[in-house]
Formats: sequence, C-alpha cells, structure tokens
Amino acid sequence: EKDGFPSFMEKEIHDQPEAVAATLLGRSDLEGKLTLDEMRIDADVLKTINKIIVLACGTSAYAGQVAKYAIEHWCRIPTEVELSHEFRYRDPIVDDKTLIVSLSQSGETMDTLMAVRYAREQGAKTIAICNTNGSTIPRESDAVLYTHAGPEIAVASTKAFLAQITAAYLLGLYLAQLRGNLFQGQIKDVLADLAKVPAKIAQVLANDGQIKELARSMADTRSVLFLGRHVGFPVAMEGALKLKELAYIHAEGFAAGELKHGPIALIEEGQPVIVVVPSPRGRDSLHAKVVSNIQEVRARGAKTIVIAEEGDESVRAHAEHVFYIPETTALLAPLLTTVPLQIFACELATAKGYDVDQPRNLAKSVTVE
Ligand code: F6R
Repeated sequence: EKDGFPSFMEKEIHDQPEAVAATLLGRSDLEGKLTLDEMRIDADVLKTINKIIVLACGTSAYAGQVAKYAIEHWCRIPTEVELSHEFRYRDPIVDDKTLIVSLSQSGETMDTLMAVRYAREQGAKTIAICNTNGSTIPRESDAVLYTHAGPEIAVASTKAFLAQITAAYLLGLYLAQLRGNLFQGQIKDVLADLAKVPAKIAQVLANDGQIKELARSMADTRSVLFLGRHVGFPVAMEGALKLKELAYIHAEGFAAGELKHGPIALIEEGQPVIVVVPSPRGRDSLHAKVVSNIQEVRARGAKTIVIAEEGDESVRAHAEHVFYIPETTALLAPLLTTVPLQIFACELATAKGYDVDQPRNLAKSVTVE
C-alpha cells in the first residue's frame, strides 16, 4: 500500500498532484460556476457574513494562514486565523454574522472540535474543511467541504495540507461568486490556473534529486531558519514544522520582513537559512525585498538555500543552492513551494535513520485537549 515507496510519507508526498486534482474535481463547470454540494448554508446567510474566523491547529492552521490571503483578496471579508486552543479562551467576538471555517485532516482534533462547538453556541455558522468522511467535526458543523486527498497515514501532514489550501481557495471563490466580488472571468482564470497545478507539482517531484542530496549532506545540522513573505510566510513556518517533527532539528519560520526586528541576531557563520522567494513577475516589490533579505543574512555568514520561480536568475548570485519551481500566480505558489520543503525534511530525517511515518512523541489525531 506504500506503492513501492519506502515510507507512507514519501508516498503521500507523491500523491499530491492527485490530492489537489481530486479536490478540484467536479466542483466547477466550464463557465467557472462553482457548485459546492455540501454547502448547506443558505446563500442569503452567506451574503450577510461580515467576518470569517479560520480555526485549526498545526499544519492545518498554516493552510488557514495561506487561505486568509486569498479569501480577503477575493471576497473582501475580514478573515482571522486562530489556533483552536487559543480561540475559546480569549472571549472572542462571534455572532450570527460570523462564518467559522475549521480545517482538520482527521476531523477528530479535540481542540478544533471544542472551538467549533463554542462558536456554534454563539450563533456562528460553521463550515468544516476536512479529509475524513463522517468524522466528528464535519458532523457537528453546518456544512462541510471535503478535501479528497485520500487517507493520510504518515503522522506528519503533507498531501492534506495542499488539499486544504485547494479547498479553502474553492470556498473563497464560491463566496466571491455568490457575493459578486469577482467577475466570472476572473474566477474562471483562477480555476484554470488551479487546474494546471497538479502537473506542476508532478514536475517538482520529478526533479527532487538535488534537494534530496542537499538534505542528506545536512544530517548533522543543529538549526535551520526559514524565511518567507506574504503567502510564503506560512509556507516557511510549515517547512520549519516538518523539520522539527521529522528530523528533530531546531527550526523556525519567520516573516522575512521581521528579520531586522530581531531574528537577524541569530545569524552566525554557517547558519542555514531557507528562503521562499516570491515571483519576480508580481506587481509589487516583494521580490526585491526578499532578495535583499537574502543578501543581509548572507553578509552575516548564513548559508542561503533558496526556493524561487523558474527563470528567476537574480537569486543565483546570493545563494549556495537554488531550487526552482514552475511559474504560477502569487496566491497559488504555496501549492508548489511547500513541496521541496517536505522532501527536504523527509530526506534529512531518513538520512538520520528516523522513522518518518511515526515521529517520536506524536499521534496522528490529537483527540485530547
Ligand atoms: C503536522 C501535523 C499536525 C496536524 C494537527 C492538526 O505535520 O500533522 O500539526 O496538522 O495536529 O490535525 P488535524 O488537521 O487532523 O486537525
């Protein structure tokens, strides 16, 4: 059942083109009209929503942070992302105009279940984005949007993460359609770009030799820092989490812009820094800013490892290693940039002799608070 892979984790990393494709399947027509069958909340109610709160833990919360950029951009609805276990204990402002979107692979995470229950009691409408049919969180929610990633066996989440981002984007487009925030042509364009993502993930997977080699050469590393900006920020945090969980290496993800506000003090000779670089084709100046962050850490001795878009030659001069991902739009980039980070953590942990499917101290579903 590992399809010839040495671990479930490697199999699941390779399942990702299919996980994204299956999550997109049958949810839009040729005109870009979205139909989310399980969206059992009245359109009239969804039109009156004035706030979205995304609730999740761990990797699923990083998927939520990615989705926030897209949902706010497309729907113009203020969107917060909160760790489920923090949410209930801060007297949150929730009412019948609040839409709760929970993200959970297992659908059984107790922290998220309790947060959803609490929000429902306050009158909020709740949608579960979930990978497990008939699990508790979808059963206790008003609506459900299943991710069709297939069963995820490895404890560390990979394909569920990409499927969650995909499903949350579909939800964002659906709300934008319903509320008239985007023109039909714009929605059609995003869906067309999404449809091309699975083949691009496959391309990243087919070119994994160089990142695996780097990972094996870093088996003795004690700390790795990850930098990203905009949607690359949650991707950086997810890359760091994978490395902690699987390889038991200290790792931290930072917003690149935050560097000079503190974390740059950590940089010393030889410190590996992995940087997720935005596309140079973007209209804003984020690319240039992140490139100058790479220069800043390198000037202080960092060993810079860069994930950049195909054709971006500007990063080469500042990086020890560059890994290229295919072109896509800024919002869809996380579906590609995450993949080399997963491969990196998995390969490094394997080189250290660890069981990547069953990391120490962790359980696949956390059913206690
Ligand atoms: C990380 C990981 C965990 C889960 C978290 C939430 O690789 O697997 O951080 O993402 O425990 O689990 P679900 O999505 O099942 O609610």
